[in-house]
Amino acid sequence: MAIYGAQAEQSGDGRKAVSLRDLKARKERGEKIVMLTCYDASFSQLLDSCGVDVLLIGDSLGMVLQGHTSTLAVSMDQVVYHTECVARPKPKAWIVADMPFASYQESPAQAYANAARLMAAGAQMVKLEGAGWLAPTVKFLSERGIPVCAHLGLTPQSVHALGGYRVQGRDPTSAEQLIADAKLLEANGADMVLVELIPTPLGQQLTRALTVPTIGIGAGPHLTGQVLVLHDILDITPGRKARFAKNYLSGAGSIQAAISRYVAEVRSGAYPGPEHGFES
Ligand code: KIV
Repeated sequence: MAIYGAQAEQSGDGRKAVSLRDLKARKERGEKIVMLTCYDASFSQLLDSCGVDVLLIGDSLGMVLQGHTSTLAVSMDQVVYHTECVARPKPKAWIVADMPFASYQESPAQAYANAARLMAAGAQMVKLEGAGWLAPTVKFLSERGIPVCAHLGLTPQSVHALGGYRVQGRDPTSAEQLIADAKLLEANGADMVLVELIPTPLGQQLTRALTVPTIGIGAGPHLTGQVLVLHDILDITPGRKARFAKNYLSGAGSIQAAISRYVAEVRSGAYPGPEHGFES
């Protein structure tokens, strides 16, 4: 009979499954973590074969798959469905699922019930948007064995309160608050912190202030890892492109080559360049 750990970490092609311990060790070793959004089984296999470390079932699916102008309409059932699709091919990559709008804000118990659905669907970690107010929820989930990624900076579920998709932490007070919130969430059990749209120097400060890995999107090159929306790197997203998005399909010849280029550029530190970030 297979031993749990052996079965989970080693199978098929002999590649080792990415674990939380491994992701944390990357930061200690100064190695980059490569993350991409993923919503279905075909891309789960493809991204995994290209060496992407972390697959995120992002609630960006509301925009890139469903055509909404924000992530607010995405439901728990929909994230559960897409998580099942991504997990079904059993990728070696670590699987993170977004908790959608109104699925965790009410109480730690509400968050636990919904996070448990995502874990049962195949997620290995859940991601929640928020700030210091999330600390009791992060503690509640983490104490019950659910790994948590806290999403700070631009939190798209609060787009209306924030007045649009704008860079956060530009003034000293909000920058200090972001670092304080991240440290509080780490102290309460967050295993990873993802930051979106913050100035490059703040991204660096944040990574130095925390022990856990940091993942950035529009946050400069000094994070432990980088994430982008799959449709952005394949240039499928219509309309105005975000400054941090890079078209990897152009000149690549195939989707596989485009994704492999993204992986290589994040690993080497070539992405993101200064043109993808915000100095202040
Ligand atoms: O939903 C999503 O895709 C995300 C990324 C933009 C980080 O949260």
